Amino acid sequence: MKTLNIGLVGSGFMGKSHSMAYNLLPQVFDPLPAYPRLRILGDITEDLAKKGAKNFGFEDYAVGFEEVVNHPDVDIIDITAPNHAHKEIAVAAAKAGKHIYCEKPLAVTLEDAKAMLDAAEAAGVKTLVGFNYLKTPATLYAKQLIDEGKLGDIWHFRGYFHQDILADPNLPFSWRFEKKIAGSGALGDLGAHIIAIAQNLVSDIDKVSALTKTFIKERPQASGGTGYSSTADLNAPKKTVENDDAVHMLTRFKNGATGTIESSRITQGRKVYLAYEINGSNGSIRFEHERMNELKVYFSDDPEGTKGFRTIITGAEHPFYGSFWPVAGCGLGFGDMKTIEIYQLLDAVANGKDLKPDFRDGYKVSQVIEAALKSAEEERWVEVASV
Ligand SMILES: NC(=O)c1ccc[n+]([C@@H]2O[C@H](COP(=O)([O-])OP(=O)(O)OC[C@H]3O[C@@H](n4cnc5c(N)ncnc54)[C@H](O)[C@@H]3O)[C@@H](O)[C@H]2O)c1
Repeated sequence: MKTLNIGLVGSGFMGKSHSMAYNLLPQVFDPLPAYPRLRILGDITEDLAKKGAKNFGFEDYAVGFEEVVNHPDVDIIDITAPNHAHKEIAVAAAKAGKHIYCEKPLAVTLEDAKAMLDAAEAAGVKTLVGFNYLKTPATLYAKQLIDEGKLGDIWHFRGYFHQDILADPNLPFSWRFEKKIAGSGALGDLGAHIIAIAQNLVSDIDKVSALTKTFIKERPQASGGTGYSSTADLNAPKKTVENDDAVHMLTRFKNGATGTIESSRITQGRKVYLAYEINGSNGSIRFEHERMNELKVYFSDDPEGTKGFRTIITGAEHPFYGSFWPVAGCGLGFGDMKTIEIYQLLDAVANGKDLKPDFRDGYKVSQVIEAALKSAEEERWVEVASV
């Protein structure tokens, strides 16, 4: 079997989840398209890189990303560093002829996202963006139902991604609150996922009218940790939050559908509330990630007297589920979406298959984000193609 060597950059939350998925992959998929060899891990300090490599099972470590990207053994560069680092690493990886798996959002600015897309397309390498919520068996099945015409013409999309993980004003100021590192706030961090779902399941978004707001205007400066694991000392000085806590958006789709997209990182009681409802001329579907093994469906041609939303519990009949478990209801979790992503990545690289969502899809999501920011700032509708 072919072996594909992985170079991972970033050993935080996502570095861990990607590593867990590589390690699990050979136990889930039989046959494997290729064996993932965890070759080298890079992070910003020797301590972080060394610890990450040891904990996640990488053979070597390096400080920074250059050695990882230019390592002669490495076939795939996996980018799990914060948003502002994606461009430099991805462009260098493309120039070195490596395939690239990059976390979302693709970049901090649309300009950076375009540079990444151009570099990858010029190099002819495979690319994948970590919009993992597209990979639940329920959402893959929802796409199947839509593509088969079971819902008829698609009229409405209503999508949300709400969390309360940053609702506490005493949580430290970390990279997610800083414009030059994160770009936008809830919009790019969480909203990017639901925009990707909307564009994948309905059609490209044509025009947006958005409202953004920052509710918690300053937070204590972090003294340790990274991202969601940052810590702050008691009485730490405050730093000004530079991006949105919440976004509400009206959307017009290219296929004529209308919709709304909302996202907030300060919605009390919501954990990973990524949810969507899609209504077509012949039926509707509804999904909530907090119950990710279920899909609710409604078909208008069900017999009179039995009509109503019903709940499908995903099982081996649905995409990828059967590779994990033979029994419906055992359930998949967050990490399993990453395992499915990585299966498709290895299959595409080893066997020349198409891979989605790629950098072009990631760029399109960044265009919607840019249009939404412009719309919110200028308080008007903005055509996505105009940004
Ligand atoms: N797909 C998802 O569901 C999901 C969830 C969370 C985060 N993300 C994305 O994953 C990325 C990382 O987020 P996270 O939550 O894992 O962050 P994190 O802060 O937990 O970890 C980031 C890691 O990258 C390292 N790092 C920072 N700059 C670097 C550089 N220039 N070179 C090498 N390493 C560097 C940090 O030291 C840290 O170890 C972000 O783009 C984020 O938007 C995606």
